[in-house]
Amino acid sequence: MKITIKRFDRRKEPQSIDMNYPIFEGLTLLENFIKIKTTIDPTLVFNGICRSGVCGSCSVMVNGKTTLACSYKPKDGDHIEPLNYHEVKRDLIVDKSKAHSTLETSRAAIHGDVIVENFLKVTVQSDCILCDSCFASCPVMAVNENFLGPFALSRVYKYTTIGSDSKTSIDAIQQNGVWDCTLCGECTLACPQGIDPKMDIMNLRSRSVQSGYMDPNMQNMNFGLDFTQGF
Ligand code: SF4
Ligand code: SF4
Ligand code: FES
Repeated sequence: MKITIKRFDRRKEPQSIDMNYPIFEGLTLLENFIKIKTTIDPTLVFNGICRSGVCGSCSVMVNGKTTLACSYKPKDGDHIEPLNYHEVKRDLIVDKSKAHSTLETSRAAIHGDVIVENFLKVTVQSDCILCDSCFASCPVMAVNENFLGPFALSRVYKYTTIGSDSKTSIDAIQQNGVWDCTLCGECTLACPQGIDPKMDIMNLRSRSVQSGYMDPNMQNMNFGLDFTQGF
């Protein structure tokens, strides 16, 4: 019974290498990492603060799917990698700053509304643990690194539902936002918190249309009609 961990240390090797380790049965993947580090290979580097699915720091890819290491018991042959679409710092540790910078758009959308912001801290932000699982599962990230991504869009939707400056929020997500999502639903499947970014994005599309926007892909399709003449 073994797992394979993709290791990377730019100081030693410019390329990553796969290394095999035995499974310590009955333990979570995070506990396996700790056991490997303390008994086999002290150089293994990983994240994991709360060990109880709360902090979001331990998310990794297991056989290509995002997984919280503290909530998963490894199986023989599992292949463990760092999160997709994040710069790898070392081994399983990634730089989340770029992904989390997408939240600036949602923060800008409620610019300066202190009362709303305080309300959000307790009601909206508490659900998402910023584990980045949805972000790392989103296929759009592979082709558009400027896409706002699921957790930022999901948060914008929540802002619009609690009476924040809805129009500003909707304006902020037209570029690299709601219309760039393919509605594949991978983000929803990936979320350990039961958040449904795909549904939130669909709701944001409806609100965008109500605000006078339309799908730019539809704008490029004229179906043989001359829209400049009106109806
Ligand atoms: S539904 Fe949209 S945001 Fe979610 S993973 Fe698919 S493309 Fe990305
Ligand atoms: S929405 Fe879910 S999957 Fe995405 S960062 Fe938040 S908790 Fe993680
Ligand atoms: S260690 Fe905190 S969520 Fe896994």
